[in-house]
Amino acid sequence: MKATAIAPANIAFLKYWGRTNTEFRLPANASFSMNLSEAKTTTTVSFEKDYSTDDISMEGSVLSQKEKERVVIHLDRIRQIAKDTRRAKVVTRNSFPKSCGIASSASGFAALTMAAQAALGMTLSERELSILARLGSGSAARSIPDGFVVWEYGDTSDESFAHSVFSPSHWDLRDIVVLSETKKTVSSTSGQDAVDTSPLYKTRLSRVKSRLSRMLEAVSLRDIAVFGSLLEEDCLEMHSVMQTQTPPLYYWTEETKHVMKEVLRMRKEGVPAYFTIDAGSAVHVICEGAMVESVLDRLGEVRCIINAPAEGARLSTNHLFL
Ligand code: DP6
Repeated sequence: MKATAIAPANIAFLKYWGRTNTEFRLPANASFSMNLSEAKTTTTVSFEKDYSTDDISMEGSVLSQKEKERVVIHLDRIRQIAKDTRRAKVVTRNSFPKSCGIASSASGFAALTMAAQAALGMTLSERELSILARLGSGSAARSIPDGFVVWEYGDTSDESFAHSVFSPSHWDLRDIVVLSETKKTVSSTSGQDAVDTSPLYKTRLSRVKSRLSRMLEAVSLRDIAVFGSLLEEDCLEMHSVMQTQTPPLYYWTEETKHVMKEVLRMRKEGVPAYFTIDAGSAVHVICEGAMVESVLDRLGEVRCIINAPAEGARLSTNHLFL
């Protein structure tokens, strides 16, 4: 049987950076994100008796051997649950450019998880899908539920899942991603392996729980000033951890710092816009829908993708191959 799923990427407002268990990708802290309306992955999966090997491809891009292996490992997890040994054909398409500053592993593993389990005749719950997607890529857990999503800390695999805390229509927030040409050279997966070497890591962990509850309160009240300052605080703390790891991880470029300063300047001029940055050089400028034009005016000539809050992963009947 064949199945197709569409899943959004997400932007972390309160970040996941550090794990208590690498194999199960158990995060050291709960995190919070928004699904992105204009950054989606569509994946079609079919399992057949006569396939001799897994055949994995991405439209418009060549996947590395390492990327393919990560997909095969994830297919193996799903095959093991379904007690099925058939090989798969997987075709995937992103609505956004690869390595542009939007993480494709979140949308990619969320779409792969949902499509593969459906293609094997399973109907996993949202919680089960989120846990399974997490094993492929931590942040993929957050691309399963709708809108604004919390991924819970858990002592065991079953306890660490993501769930929706506000629907996409709760707040007309925008994530203006200023696209970056700079490819990151260290993946989030390997970057996090050295998190313990930062003297600031434990300090950040001691602060994120209270920050998350204050952030959720600000989002519930749609208070952009409180939300925005917590957003920047968490981004800067996570990057301070990264930059003080051994070896240090500098994801920022001159362009990153330039856009961050532009955002600070906008605020001085009365435009309530805030920045956040994941494991890459692209700046995500966060503001309310009514402020988008003012932000774009001030950003000038940049390439960007403007995202609204979006629903989570869904099955689709529009397959990518016959
Ligand atoms: C900085 O989810 O990409 O974007 O679990 O190894 O696949 P793996 O890492 P990944 O890490 C995301 C890190 C981040 C923050 C976040 O999205 O919460």
